[in-house]
Order: sequence, then C-alpha cells, then structure tokens
Amino acid sequence: MQLSYEELAEQLEALLDPDWPAVSNLSNAASVLYNGLERINWAGFYLMKGNVLWLGPFGGRPACVRIEAGKGVCGAAAQRKETVVVPDVHQFPGHIACDGASRSEIVVPLVKGGRVLGVLDLDSPDYARFGDADRIGLERIAGILLRVMDEEVL
Ligand code: SME
Repeated sequence: MQLSYEELAEQLEALLDPDWPAVSNLSNAASVLYNGLERINWAGFYLMKGNVLWLGPFGGRPACVRIEAGKGVCGAAAQRKETVVVPDVHQFPGHIACDGASRSEIVVPLVKGGRVLGVLDLDSPDYARFGDADRIGLERIAGILLRVMDEEVL
C-alpha cells in the first residue's frame, strides 16, 4: 500500500496521543510507516540515551540494537542534526548493514529544543528509493512525532 505523506500525517495525527507513553505512540507510528509506504523493508526508530542510539519500535527484520555516536547513517543524521538521504548504502562510508536486502536509506533526526531525541530510519530494497518529496514528507511526520516525545524517551 502506498499512502501519500498527507494521508500518513492524517493517520498519525488521529492515532497518537501525548498522554500515552512515547514508546506506545512510536510503535504505532512505525507500523503506520512500514505498512503505508511501498518498497520499504524497514521503518522505525533509534532512540538516544547518553551518547548511544538504541533500537526502538520498528517494522521489519530484527536490527542492530546499539549505534555509537556518529556511526552509520543514523549516527551521521543525529550528529549533523539533518536528514541524510543515501541512494546506495554500499557507497556510504560506515553504513551499518542490518538487513542485507537494504539498498537505499533515509534517516531523519528527531530534534526537540536543540536536542536529538532519536532518529526515524527507513530502508528500501531498491536503489535511490528516497528523494526530496520523501525528505519533506518525513520531516513533517517527524514534527508530528516530536509532539508525543519527551526529552527522555528511554
Ligand atoms: N543502516 C543503519 C543502521 C540501522 S538499520 O538500517 C535498521 C545505519 O547505517 O545507521
């Protein structure tokens, strides 16, 4: 199923509640993204605790649990505090391979009050799956998610 980012945003607005634990909200958000986008083999979150990104709620195959500061695409996005789009993961120095099927990736940092609370990570089995429309759409979705995230999610 391929939903528009408008439709995904509407679903998330309806589904998330700031009175619920962030991990519950993020679990449903991961499911919405994983099931609502086509040509995706992983969609989920890494959450910052100390200087480490820990695996959070996701859809897809089991993934690496711990990503050190600055490592991989996730660490790069968290360090730069900006979205990283990788058309070919094999060309990204330090890319961390979790699912061997992944060919391209987008990671959007979740930044609140200047602080990185985590990242939203999507992987695709296709090269160059993610473009500018995805970056804009997912950054909007990150804004919706940040409304239900506290400073300390983990
Ligand atoms: N590829 C990521 C690791 C997480 S998995 O894609 C789920 C990275 O390089 O940071």
